[in-house]
Order: sequence, then structure tokens, then C-alpha cells
Amino acid sequence: MRSVLISGGCGFLGSHLIDRLLLRTDLERLVVVDNLWTGSMRNIAHIDDPRLGLEIQDAESFVSHHRFDEIIHLASPASPLWYMREPARTIRANIGGALNLLTLLKPDGRFCFASTSEVYGDPLVSPQPETYRGSVDCTGPRSSYDESKRCTEALLFEQRRVADLDVRVVRLFNTYGPRTRIDDGRAVSNFIAQALTTGIVTVYGDGAQSRSWGYVDDIIEGMERFFWRDPITHQGPLNIGNNCEISVLEIAEFVCSLVPGSRIEHHAPVPQDPTNRCPDLTLARQVLPGWEARTAYQEGVRMTLEWFREQMAIGSALENRAAGAAAL
Ligand SMILES: NC(=O)c1ccc[n+]([C@@H]2O[C@H](COP(=O)([O-])OP(=O)(O)OC[C@H]3O[C@@H](n4cnc5c(N)ncnc54)[C@H](O)[C@@H]3O)[C@@H](O)[C@H]2O)c1
Repeated sequence: MRSVLISGGCGFLGSHLIDRLLLRTDLERLVVVDNLWTGSMRNIAHIDDPRLGLEIQDAESFVSHHRFDEIIHLASPASPLWYMREPARTIRANIGGALNLLTLLKPDGRFCFASTSEVYGDPLVSPQPETYRGSVDCTGPRSSYDESKRCTEALLFEQRRVADLDVRVVRLFNTYGPRTRIDDGRAVSNFIAQALTTGIVTVYGDGAQSRSWGYVDDIIEGMERFFWRDPITHQGPLNIGNNCEISVLEIAEFVCSLVPGSRIEHHAPVPQDPTNRCPDLTLARQVLPGWEARTAYQEGVRMTLEWFREQMAIGSALENRAAGAAAL
């Protein structure tokens, strides 16, 4: 039986991964370490499983007498809006978190890490294969995130070289779906939240910049197979994402088509916003045969929009109840 630690488990991807982890019959114990910086306990509130334990703590200072068979390190904001506000904290979460959590791994344990397509920077080749070394600016506004992911990758692959550490590193491309924060700030969730609230959907620049938008269920399927389900010898890095490139403008227009009365407003471009991001999935197809990010963006955006609508309805019902109670 296996004991697993997941950092960042109250976040968007972490909470979906927990749902999959708890389906494992070989799982004895699952410890979630999360400081609730960008995550929320609401994301795991539906779980009633005695194997799950929640520690509201920083990954970089979490202490335990227990040693784990598997550690999945996701603790880090993924949204530029959030990581740019607190660069030192972002670096601590990624690098400090990995350094600390490594000490909690059993000698023959496996360390899984969610790296990012941002390690490719503003790429000069498209699509980006894992062998592409990136076009990154270590003094730029995104550097706390992309350089800390690069450094953590370096730490893990070097530990593999010198200590034979069993590592699994995925480089995730843009992912969206239910359980994203309403104030997450990334394009899909931002467009949906804006369309449902103010009705004004802001597109930075002309919107021609493209992204490969992966729906959460597809991305989690790839992570699950790579991290624990499939018998795989490749340790990464492995690109996981959707390779269907769509412009930011197209997504914004689609969201507006679903929310009557909403409209697009263009704002000044964001500095160092990459012009394109698209995974080369050749390796992923070899390592995870049959895996594809299958959900078309139209379907994924509809499902995400429905979830946001439900959350907003729950939020306003709670506010009304609180206002009613205060008026008594
Ligand atoms: N979502 C994406 O599109 C995407 C893309 C590339 C990489 N990733 C990576 O995947 C991981 C999860 O991303 P997400 O979208 O779920 O982000 P998220 O912000 O929803 O979740 C991150 C979680 O980590 C927690 N956290 C942050 N710092 C912490 C710390 N020091 N100690 C403990 N907990 C901490 C947050 O509270 C949150 O619950 C991140 O490492 C991110 O860099 C995500």
C-alpha cells in the first residue's frame, strides 16, 4: 500500500488529481499540503474519505515524521496575475517546496513535478518539443515563475543523475476548466467571469496571440497516466497539452457568443506576453499511447461557463442569506 503527498492539492489541477488519486485501491494515505494562497478548501469539500488528510501549511516548511512513497509537487500559482504579485513567494513555493519535500521521500520513492510550457519562454520554434531549450528572460516580469520551474527541473534531474531519484516531470500547457478561481486572471476564466459579470471582455493587444488550450479532464488523464497509472520508464520532461492552437480573440468571441449582451474591449498588450505556445506531442504520444487532449474548446468552454454560472449562483444565494440574517 502506498502513501502519497500532494502539495497544492486545494488548487485547480491538484483537486482534480486528488479525485483520481482516491480511486486508487493501493492508496493507504493521501496527505495534502496547501497554504490556500490561490487554492480553496471548497475544491476538495466534496471528498469524504478517511485516507485524506489536509495540512494547511507551506510546502517549503512542512515537517512530518512520515516518509512518502510518492510526492506530487504542484504548489505554485499558475496564473501570471498571481505569481507576478509575489515573485519571492513563487520562487519559494517551487524551489523551496521541492527541496523540502525531497527530504520527505522514501529512498526508493517517486517525485512528480508540474513544470510548465513557460520554460520555453517566448519560443522561437513552434510547436515546442521537449528538446527546445527555450527563449527565456531571467530579468523579465515572468521570470520568478519560469526560472523557478527551470531550476526545480534542474534540481530533480540532477538528483536523478547523482542519486538515482525516480522523477516524473510534466510540462503543462495552458489548462482551463471547472475549479479555476473566478479571479484567476488567465484568458479563458477571465473572459467567462467578465462576460457573466460586467459583460465587457478584455482582450490584451489585438488578440492574435495564440495558445493551446487544454481542457482539465484531458490534462489530468495525461498526468495520472504518467505519474502513476502506466508502467513507464521515461521520466520526463514530457509535454502535456492540447496542440490545437487557437487565438485569444477566437476564444473571447466564442465566450461572447454564449453570453448575450457581452462584448469585447481591446486593451494595451501585456509586456512579454508570448506570441504563441503549442506543444509538440510526439513524445507524449509514444509514452502515453492513445492519449490525446480530445475536448474541443467549444465543449470545454461551455462546461466551464456552466460551472462558473453555478458558482456565482451559489455565491449570490449565500450573500442573500447573509443579508437576510443581518436584517433580522
Ligand atoms: N493550470 C495551468 O494551466 C498550468 C500550466 C502549467 C503548469 N501548471 C502548474 O501546475 C501546478 C498547479 O497549477 P494550478 O493551475 O492548479 O494552480 P492553482 O493556483 O490553482 O493551484 C496551486 C495550489 O498551490 C497552493 N500553493 C501555492 N504556494 C504554496 C506553498 N508555498 N505551499 C503550499 N501550497 C501552495 C495554492 O494555494 C493552490 O492551492 C502549478 O505548479 C503550476 O505551475 C499549471
